[in-house]
Amino acid sequence: MKRKPILAGNWKMFKTRGATKAFVHELAPRVQEAQCRILIAPPFTALAAAASSAQGSGIEIGAQNMHDGLEGAFTGEISAPMLLEAGASFVLLGHSERRHIFNETNEFVRRKILRALEVGLQPLLCIGETEQEREEGRTEAVLQSQLAACLEGISTEGLIVAYEPVWAIGTGKTATPRMAQQAHQFCRGWLQANWGSEIAEKIPILYGGSVNPETIVSLCGMPDIDGALVGGASLDVEKFAHMANLLN
Ligand code: PGA
Repeated sequence: MKRKPILAGNWKMFKTRGATKAFVHELAPRVQEAQCRILIAPPFTALAAAASSAQGSGIEIGAQNMHDGLEGAFTGEISAPMLLEAGASFVLLGHSERRHIFNETNEFVRRKILRALEVGLQPLLCIGETEQEREEGRTEAVLQSQLAACLEGISTEGLIVAYEPVWAIGTGKTATPRMAQQAHQFCRGWLQANWGSEIAEKIPILYGGSVNPETIVSLCGMPDIDGALVGGASLDVEKFAHMANLLN
């Protein structure tokens, strides 16, 4: 089955509202012919501006995180209905920076996924091993435990998964296409075993970790790699447009 490729940009804590609008206006005409889904996750404060600038372009706007509650006394947090109101259609959940810097657990990520699905935001679940876990030969065990815990009791065609080895994020070290394919194949196998082949074949699994215009084609040429989640290189409109036009 051919899955439509996805190029997703995770802007992290970069770009103001003004810079976001300028980026989306420059990007839209450059990706009119692109064959992939194009997703951008700007900071919360730029979401509404991004969504209105992207209108009619096919570019999808989403958030980098959310809380699982609908509302409540959670200082500094943002809920799923707030994201929807701002124009988000998807949300990154469980990014390694959330897990490692902000101590988010698989159980918390699972509750967020449930809430996102309930309100109609597409969850993009990020998983991946640390350098030490890879060196100890525990990559598959880590992926298995993250998938099992984050997706316990869940089965849906509406999920996107991103495999992002922690040692490759923001480091300039990319996994080789072979290494990444092995991890993706393992994740697809887990989905097949737990959700059945029909659903597993439909779930896009993106690779993330220092992807750039030079590496994206060989990575996404692998059978189980359906696109990329890009941090650093997504901040540059020329590079991002170039990557979008390379994915088909
Ligand atoms: P990077 O970030 O492309 O800068 O490595 C990827 C990510 O954190 O999603």
